[in-house]
Amino acid sequence: MPTLTTPQRSPALIQLHRADALAVRAELTAGLLGGAAHIAPKYLYDALGSRLFAAITELAEYYPTRTEAEILARYATDIARGLPTGATLVDLGAGNCEKAARLFGALKPARYVAVDISVDFLQQALQCLQREHPALELLGIGLDFSSQLALPPEVGAGPRVVFYPGSSIGNFAPVQALDFLRQAREVSQGGALLIGVDLVKPVSVLEPAYDDALGVTAAFNRNMLLHLNHLLGSNFDIAHWRHRARFDAAHSRIEMYLDATQDQLVQWPGAQRLFRRGESIHTENSYKYSVAGFEALLGEAGFTGTRCWTDARNWFAVFTAEAGGEPT
Ligand code: AVI
Repeated sequence: MPTLTTPQRSPALIQLHRADALAVRAELTAGLLGGAAHIAPKYLYDALGSRLFAAITELAEYYPTRTEAEILARYATDIARGLPTGATLVDLGAGNCEKAARLFGALKPARYVAVDISVDFLQQALQCLQREHPALELLGIGLDFSSQLALPPEVGAGPRVVFYPGSSIGNFAPVQALDFLRQAREVSQGGALLIGVDLVKPVSVLEPAYDDALGVTAAFNRNMLLHLNHLLGSNFDIAHWRHRARFDAAHSRIEMYLDATQDQLVQWPGAQRLFRRGESIHTENSYKYSVAGFEALLGEAGFTGTRCWTDARNWFAVFTAEAGGEPT
């Protein structure tokens, strides 16, 4: 008798984001020529930058990733109780999809949608996930959601749980964070948000987390210049730039800079800038919230029924919030 086998599901992949090289060069040039030079933190993540960030999450000083994982593992059942079951789990900035996969048991999603800037990052992880969860519908979307969060119709109807872990919300300025949360609420289609947020804590903990003894964060930051050389055709010499991270209490944020250690002329097609010794390029802000402050932001974005879990030291918080009601 012939054996009947169920056809194996495979993840669907959609690439929506196509980098516009001209627009990227215009954006980088404007940032470098500005009075206070600045580059958006998304340019920290080329292939090497992503690997360096993965290494950062292993450092003793960098507490957010492991603290969030502890909270999610410890309270998964309780967290899931307040979220719609059988929803579509939309994972923003999914990377290797590990964080979301750990929640499958508790959340029991009907469909898993991994979103990252490139589906190339997602393909392998989704194929592995499909072997572990052969019945689960998996979709990978390549999308740059840092400026606009809009999902294609392939994500399907019905409520969604929007998962935004890692305190990546902290890399937006509060006004942008509010805008992003409003979009997340709309995208959830009456579902909910599950988000990780880093909390304010002593500078003696915050600053080493962004300036570790091994110099991995320094390499992560300085690698941005190599990425710029590739994107712009510039001639940054990383030997002449130093990493700096400081906590600005007034803005409740860690600021990362690259400081010129000597005068230098940096050139790229169509432009140049003389950086004086001590001049800086601002590369990242990482905002730290209080529980009450982030709850207020969720409320302002139109979310209701906010719940929050923290670790014993109150270093990190995981929030759930319901999207129900009229859009704001
Ligand atoms: C991705 N993001 C939440 C990290 C953070 O903590 O702001 C990026 C990072 N920058 C330096 N170390 C980690």
